[in-house]
Amino acid sequence: MYPIRDSYGRPVTSMRIQVNTTCNFKCFFCHMEGTGVHSETLSPEEIERVVEVAARHGVNKIKFTGGEPTLRRDILDIIKRTRKHISGNISMTTNGIRLPALAQKLREAGLDRVNISMHSIDREGFQFITGVDAIDKVVNGIRAAKSAGFNPIKLNFVVLKDVNIDQIPRMIELSSNEGVILQLIEFETVRENENSEEYLKYHVSLDSIETYLKGNAEKIEYNSLHLRPRYTIDINGKKAVVELVKPMHNYEFCKHCTRIRLTSTGALKPCLMRDDNYTDIISGIRSNSDNDLLDNIFRKAVMKREPYWKEEDELKNSDKVLWINQG
Ligand code: 5AD
Repeated sequence: MYPIRDSYGRPVTSMRIQVNTTCNFKCFFCHMEGTGVHSETLSPEEIERVVEVAARHGVNKIKFTGGEPTLRRDILDIIKRTRKHISGNISMTTNGIRLPALAQKLREAGLDRVNISMHSIDREGFQFITGVDAIDKVVNGIRAAKSAGFNPIKLNFVVLKDVNIDQIPRMIELSSNEGVILQLIEFETVRENENSEEYLKYHVSLDSIETYLKGNAEKIEYNSLHLRPRYTIDINGKKAVVELVKPMHNYEFCKHCTRIRLTSTGALKPCLMRDDNYTDIISGIRSNSDNDLLDNIFRKAVMKREPYWKEEDELKNSDKVLWINQG
């Protein structure tokens, strides 16, 4: 069957490729794409080979991530090589500060879209979160992305209790003025970390924001990836587009996950939240394996995919809560 489906019947049509783990920001909440920090990386040729294998199975959408992907000197080559095999969307998540220098070249290499991480609208908040005084550079990056013709451009904003949640109205206004989409992301972590001091301190549910957006929406659409809702609202006669990413305990999110990941060290990774079910593909590539063998490795990785948040678990937990409340 094409595209390939996992054992839960979910088609795998997109791949998130981590090209490095180094970053010039130090966001305290960063999940690092669910991997550790590594100095070694895959070469552009090796990444191309994995993309080819994935494309043969119906993957038609690529997102580059890191670390910070624009810190790789060969990022243009990586994108050009990917473009040869992918007719769908190729995008990148970036902190934006290298975009003034790179946006046009990235566009010419074949990149379609960028997500720019901007977790604060004010200078002090930005520095608190990222460890760097660079908000002006990020805003210049957004403008450079616009002039290079990226469309849509999304701003990634991880919502943090007592840190930036009060900035959401200003972020909506800024996004609307700049003509970009605001993506509000729930702070996420693995189950084992949910009761940690840091998580309890900063995590906040996006439900009340969602209620506000729903009540004011002119239009609601759903992204096929994770069924993420997108609201178009009116702000002083101007349109604003806001997407919500609510992964925690969200079994609908996992049910609609179409993604497989490639780590910077050459493993296929079925889920952001797990590091116990990798499939090494780079050894196969480095030992010049033929396509059949690489195809088998890819299929094996897809078959390890499993929803992290499952309906039955969540329903069981909600029973428990009800029971506790009643007791
Ligand atoms: N929860 C939610 N989003 C996160 N990101 C990084 N860490 C987390 C987290 N713990 C965001 C980054 C970037 C994108 C790759 O994921 O800020 O925008």
